[in-house]
Amino acid sequence: MPQIRLDKFISERTEYSRSQIKQLAAAGKILLNGQITRKTDVKTDPESDTVEVCGEVVRSEKYRYILLNKPAGYVSSTEEKDGPSVLGLVPPGMRTKGLFPAGRLDKDSLGALLITDDGELAHRILSPRSHIPKIYIVKLDRPFENNYINKFESGIVLADGEACLPALVRPVENSEKLAFIQLHEGKYHQVKRMFASVENHVEQLMRVSLGGLVLPEKLAFGECMGLLHKDVENLFETPDFDDFCAEFSGFFSAILINNQL
Ligand code: URA
Repeated sequence: MPQIRLDKFISERTEYSRSQIKQLAAAGKILLNGQITRKTDVKTDPESDTVEVCGEVVRSEKYRYILLNKPAGYVSSTEEKDGPSVLGLVPPGMRTKGLFPAGRLDKDSLGALLITDDGELAHRILSPRSHIPKIYIVKLDRPFENNYINKFESGIVLADGEACLPALVRPVENSEKLAFIQLHEGKYHQVKRMFASVENHVEQLMRVSLGGLVLPEKLAFGECMGLLHKDVENLFETPDFDDFCAEFSGFFSAILINNQL
């Protein structure tokens, strides 16, 4: 990897501005390979050098990828106009300047939300051409009807006349009102509006996978985890929907049932 200036390296990977970095260096708070460095224009090799700021190692990767298990009550936006932003749930040690949610979940929705500062990856994920499958589990107001399977697969037309791409939907075994749905697009309130068009109502919605990236069991609501490069690559995989439902129905239905909002 080419060498870059120490202040640029730190600034791109943390919340510190260049002037704060200068002050921290002057105060002896920046270590380069274990040695205090008061000069911030020295060159560093992001791959082989270890940089510490205020006792914390600065990661070498340029971009940050975070998976949040979104709780209800937070907005998927960098702004706080309609409620607290999901960015407030990112622990200080994981924060960088340009973080934003790559995708949307409604304020009352739960589950997998990617937060990143990599605009190019976000564009690849969010582009209408990417068709990354997303799986949700929903709790319905009325029992699931088997006719939904064909209706959703043929392409639901929403109340405003907008047509949806074919989607897969399956009831969760041994439950009347829980279902999994897989979409390849992300229209506004899409899952809720699709069930409304078959005269049902979504009471709770949780996104459980983005491409081949499944919300991990150990990640509680409100918690974040840093993703590795291979996890990010998983976003572009397509899981087999029926295998997914069979494998994860017990786990995700228990979460939805136990999460009394
Ligand atoms: N569809 C919805 O209706 N809401 C979400 O939060 C995500 C998908």
